[in-house]
Amino acid sequence: MSNNKPLIVLANSGLIDPNSLEQAIGVGAYSAMAKIVEEAIAPSDVIGIVKASGLRGRGGAGFPTGLKWSFTAKDEQVYIICNADEGEPGTFKDRLILEGDPHRLIEGMMIAGYAVNATKGYVYVRGEYTLSIERMQTAINAAREVGLLGENIFESDFSFDIEIKKGAGAYVCGEETSLIESIEGKRGYPRLKPPYPGAVGLWSKPTVVNNVETLANVPPIIVNGPEWFRSYGTEKCPGTKVFTILGHVEKPGLVEAEMGTSLQTIIDVHGGGVKDGKAFKGALVGGSAGAFVCPDCLDKPMDFDGLQELSAVLGSGAVLVFNEDASIVEMLDGILAFFKHESCGQCAPCRGGTQALKTIMERIRDGHGVAGDLDKMVEVATSMQATSLCPLGQSVILPITSALQHFRPEFEALIS
Ligand SMILES: Cc1cc2nc3c(=O)[nH]c(=O)nc-3n(C[C@H](O)[C@H](O)[C@H](O)COP(=O)(O)O)c2cc1C
Repeated sequence: MSNNKPLIVLANSGLIDPNSLEQAIGVGAYSAMAKIVEEAIAPSDVIGIVKASGLRGRGGAGFPTGLKWSFTAKDEQVYIICNADEGEPGTFKDRLILEGDPHRLIEGMMIAGYAVNATKGYVYVRGEYTLSIERMQTAINAAREVGLLGENIFESDFSFDIEIKKGAGAYVCGEETSLIESIEGKRGYPRLKPPYPGAVGLWSKPTVVNNVETLANVPPIIVNGPEWFRSYGTEKCPGTKVFTILGHVEKPGLVEAEMGTSLQTIIDVHGGGVKDGKAFKGALVGGSAGAFVCPDCLDKPMDFDGLQELSAVLGSGAVLVFNEDASIVEMLDGILAFFKHESCGQCAPCRGGTQALKTIMERIRDGHGVAGDLDKMVEVATSMQATSLCPLGQSVILPITSALQHFRPEFEALIS
């Protein structure tokens, strides 16, 4: 962290042997759950602590975590799902947590389970993450062996266990309802919402779906309290964010920085500056469904609200940096190819819209664009936003409109 505050989410990653339960316990693993049991903190009070911390989901949308838990319907069977699908291009932050500190994630899921009365959790991990799956399974086995997972945890009435489910590589399966369909053994098609998973989720039971990074924040919040968590970040977005810094920077990689850190600090301090001393042209923030930003945005805070003011999104926290030589036309073409490939095909607006957008974009890219093409792209993406069944089709508009807002002349130069 640039101001030398201790890290939260990545505090132990790289410092402990992820295959050692002893080392994890040595740095505080399971002390949050122990505290809950010893101090007899009621499930509703756990939700109250998480609400008071202001923790917001790190899977993209920034929905308040405590609120999500409080909305979860009461039932004798409730499920927790940890979303570790991480299909967003240029994002590998969850992987570092899974591979570097798996017991933190187990404990985060366990506390979420205690809060909403769930006894079973699933970790849905993308199949390509073989090392993540291996380390999570080793950690689950070790926790089970000593009774940290299973019946009557810390001799309480609370029982909880975790199973790993592997994804098969579809981007849409990161969307919570497609993910649920996939765990149920069906084709990973999104469901219409409402009902939301908190009411009707896995096997039609109330289900909490949270991102890996979200759950990794929970144990330290319980141990240190909501005020401590609020001492990081901004008032509306407390805590930290794990950013993936990619593209034309000297030091690509991952960094945990406070919410609200400026884009300039992310690039210059954490990313080592634009590569080879070239000028900064712009960045794609938030992954493929994110927004292009330009040099005017460098001083803006990187958090859910700060980026919303720029009509951008924080998304997964991926920051893809472009130097002066980069082609935004090529970039947008790549993004639209991705969406065309990943559209699940269930609903017509997304299936046909992603095809149409790619066709127009390719024409422009190859220098054969015709008058009206740019407006046509916005028109197609706008109707996709209004009529697609899930946020995949609804979100294609953002990279298109932001690219045109900041870099329109580059596209116009290719249109006769
Ligand atoms: C196309 C698509 C892909 C998504 N991929 C992921 C993903 O890989 N990981 C994730 O946590 N959330 C992903 N989401 C968001 C999830 O639907 C859901 O909002 C999130 O897991 C909730 O967790 P949170 O409240 O902790 O952020 C995706 C959403 C969409 C529309």
